[in-house]
Amino acid sequence: MAPIVFSGIQPTGQITLGNYLGALKHFVKAQHDAQSYYCIVDLHAITVPQDPKELKTRILDLAALYLAVGLDPQIATLFVQSDVKEHAELGWLLQCNVHMGELSRMTQYKEKAEGKDAVTVGLFTYPALMAADILLYQTNLVPVGEDQKQHIEITRDIALRFNARFGDTFTIPEGMITKEGARIMSLDDPTKKMSKSNPNPASRIELSDTPDEIRKKFSRAVTDSGRGVTFDPEKKAAVANLLTIYATITDRSIESIVNEYEGRGYGDFKKGLGEAVIAHLEPIQSRFQSLRQSGDVVDILQEGAHRARESAQKTIDLVKRNIGLGTYY
Ligand code: TYM
Repeated sequence: MAPIVFSGIQPTGQITLGNYLGALKHFVKAQHDAQSYYCIVDLHAITVPQDPKELKTRILDLAALYLAVGLDPQIATLFVQSDVKEHAELGWLLQCNVHMGELSRMTQYKEKAEGKDAVTVGLFTYPALMAADILLYQTNLVPVGEDQKQHIEITRDIALRFNARFGDTFTIPEGMITKEGARIMSLDDPTKKMSKSNPNPASRIELSDTPDEIRKKFSRAVTDSGRGVTFDPEKKAAVANLLTIYATITDRSIESIVNEYEGRGYGDFKKGLGEAVIAHLEPIQSRFQSLRQSGDVVDILQEGAHRARESAQKTIDLVKRNIGLGTYY
């Protein structure tokens, strides 16, 4: 049987090249040999404050982007998390099976809560909701970037614990974290992950950036001392990051790019990289514009939610029966 694949992206900030190379690009590849569910996780987005109008726009933008990068709604189920109530329901049921200590150790929580006076309970219990997303569909594989590794681990722990206590209920999922592209770093600091929330927009390429913005950002990207385009993640982390972007976006090997730029300077290399990224993003951007104007996006999301619900309801019924809850399933 085809494996079940599930993944999600938060509709916050502008989607970056990191999100694309670490996640979206793999979603597109995985959809062909799997029964796949790709979700816009708006319930996760509201664990930190969001402007309602902006949130709505970002949900539709992200849906149009899912389609523009090549997800096919005929074969992949595309939907918004809050349109399928079972996510919140299972989120609660799993919160009652996860411990405060486990949640306090989550690095994403620690990073996001650091220095803030008002941290929501939702930010703390975020991993239980993410586990619910994955376990609702009896998922086998979860394509994500490296920063989500700890979330996949806790999902597995929760599922194993639940099965041991209440009998076989959940499939135990595995992360699908590819070697290249799983951790794209900032253009201004190769020790930090490229992120939507970095206050410096020059630290990231956004999928909506114009060709000029892309050229400028790469030309200003930090490089390392010394000359020569060589792949050495330890000693030349900035160049290694640019090489990784170049290789993953063009589906070429790092070695072939290193050979191409042998004896040439960083300037040439960064120009070539900029043009490769522009050429890759241009058709995505033009599809995005026409999808966003077409008005089809909402219909596709509602059809997706309908399909997702069928599967989610089966799991919720089984979970409730196994825990001993309620009167009808
Ligand atoms: P989010 O929205 O922060 O990121 C979406 C995806 O992009 C990947 N990613 C990166 N990959 C490589 N390099 C980077 N610099 C980079 N930045 C982000 C992330 O690893 C992720 O795969 N908690 C999740 C959302 C979520 C989810 C789920 C994911 C909620 N429920 C269920 C999978 C399954 C998150 O915050 O992703």
